[in-house]
Amino acid sequence: MANPKVSGLAGYSKLDLKRLPAHVAIIMDGNGRWAKGRGLPRVMGHRAGIQSVRAVVEAARELSIRVLTLYAFSVENWKRNPQEVKTLMRLLNEYLRRELPTLMANEIRLNVLGDVSGLPPGVQEELERVLAKTRANDKMVLNLALNYGARAEILQAAGRVAAEVKAGRLKESELTEAAFSRFLYTDGQPDPDLLIRTSGEHRISNFLLWQISYAELYLTPRLWPDFGKADFLAALLEYQGRERRFGA
Ligand code: FPP
Repeated sequence: MANPKVSGLAGYSKLDLKRLPAHVAIIMDGNGRWAKGRGLPRVMGHRAGIQSVRAVVEAARELSIRVLTLYAFSVENWKRNPQEVKTLMRLLNEYLRRELPTLMANEIRLNVLGDVSGLPPGVQEELERVLAKTRANDKMVLNLALNYGARAEILQAAGRVAAEVKAGRLKESELTEAAFSRFLYTDGQPDPDLLIRTSGEHRISNFLLWQISYAELYLTPRLWPDFGKADFLAALLEYQGRERRFGA
């Protein structure tokens, strides 16, 4: 994606570009198993997973998908081996530092879903820098879910709603679904139309519980480091073959 003018759309000929999802969310899973299968330490799987991150960001941007959300670190992930957590944080820092020029060249705005204050100070600093620099970019939003848990997100939203009602700034009768959504980390964004999970697991794992109410699910056995543009394309094609009824 070094040169944003060179389009890689050639492989997308079967897609209906008018019916693409506005928001794609991905649970990137299987890095550990990918590494284990090669006799490598788990962290090598995370490192290899960054290539897949690059590939899907590039594909989403080429297709003018408005929002891409990647589940990079959950509130539960702190329970992992401290060395693995440390490496994940280092990889994240490295990714942010390296990817800033690409985000700028492709007019992608970075956004974080989650409690940033719980991240190591070095990561917070790098995030703040990239968030500030990319703030005015408006071609695509890249949401990184970091220190994210959907229940925690809903709980903090409920707390803020209660405070607003108490202060008289919000009437209980005005609390619609749309009004509540404004207190979530995804404020102002369309809900995911498509949720992808790799590595053959059939779980939601505390991810975007409110926002995925009507999302189409695409579950693939492919391990995240093996997931590339062709897999992303396959997910989009399957999405386009589905009939969405929104409960009707
Ligand atoms: C799940 O695989 C993956 C993660 C917990 C972290 C995802 C992180 C990356 C892809 C790299 C860093 C991300 C960015 C955005 C730079 P797992 O470890 O649970 O795999 P397993 O289920 O096979 O053990």
